[in-house]
Amino acid sequence: MIVLGIETSCDETAAALVNSEHKILSESIHSQIDIHQKYLGVVPEIAARSHVEYCDKIILDVFENIEIKIKDVDAIAATAGPGLIGGLLVGLTTAKAIAMSTNKPFIAINHLVGHALTPRLTDKIKFPYLLLLISGGHSMFLSVEGPNKYKVIGNTIDDALGEAFDKTARLLGLGYPGGSELEKLAILGDKERFHFPEPLKGQKGCNFSFSGLKTSVRQTAEKLSPLSGQDKADIAASFQFTVCKIIYGRLSEAIKIFSNKNPNSKTLAAAGGVASNLAINNILKIIATEQGFELVVPPPRLCTDNGAMIAWAGIEYRLLGIEHDYDFDARARWSLEGLQ
Ligand code: KG4
Ligand code: ZN
Repeated sequence: MIVLGIETSCDETAAALVNSEHKILSESIHSQIDIHQKYLGVVPEIAARSHVEYCDKIILDVFENIEIKIKDVDAIAATAGPGLIGGLLVGLTTAKAIAMSTNKPFIAINHLVGHALTPRLTDKIKFPYLLLLISGGHSMFLSVEGPNKYKVIGNTIDDALGEAFDKTARLLGLGYPGGSELEKLAILGDKERFHFPEPLKGQKGCNFSFSGLKTSVRQTAEKLSPLSGQDKADIAASFQFTVCKIIYGRLSEAIKIFSNKNPNSKTLAAAGGVASNLAINNILKIIATEQGFELVVPPPRLCTDNGAMIAWAGIEYRLLGIEHDYDFDARARWSLEGLQ
């Protein structure tokens, strides 16, 4: 089975062809980072216009230099939410139009499902597994029990982790999105110089909170202003180290909760843009080893937004016989619990 996947929920226009043998046959992506950088964040209207400009080209790209034609594709999948409505509408409408004109099934994919199932595309892991989903808009622990079956066992009560990385990066004068730039700067810094708070430390459950950390980082930067290059590197390193300690503490709780319900599963996966951070990866490795879990983290280009994750989710849905009507609308918000 081959599915064409289209992703336009934020600032990447992406498409891919993936088959049921876990193979990415071809993929194409256009990043809008350049046009949003001067605003230090994604401007929804500009994003939507750019998706309109690039969507057709990106889809045509995946059929270049490959024997596969649209007639060989079994279904068309597109992200229907959560995300920026203007962008979602572009990908979703394009997918519906292709599906309608070629008489193929159309599948509406939840963006978080795309991230959550990527470790199955890359490593063929079995359900159920514990997933740490950390991206620009979400920070959660999920018990992934089937392509369409998720339990949220922990969530952020304020900011997402990617947002905390981006805001700290902005404070340090790095570009947008700043997560990977901050990671590079942190290598040059002293992670012990500043002691930032670890919100919810020691509390029951595995929710996250990052707003207190963000405020403390800002206050530290304001006190030291003007910041020297070394100050910036030390703040970056101390911030990232604090994030690692927070993840260590919260993940220990999440594993307890998950293992209670799923005593036979020993698989921990991570997904979403922030999961490509190497310091976070190292903490995950440590905790997985301590707890006797297998750790699966997809390669960085499949952690950040891409078309293959949507195509793969489409494969998993089609294998369950799921398809959607053309009146399936784009959704700015869309919970993972109670999916159909
Ligand atoms: O999954 P993603 O591409 O888009 C969303 O669905 O949000 O995640 C983007 C987020 C941004 O906040 C970005 O700064 C962060 O992932 N990110 C990183 C790294 N690479 C991307 N954060 C920390 N370290 C990185 N290496
Ligand atoms: Zn994402």
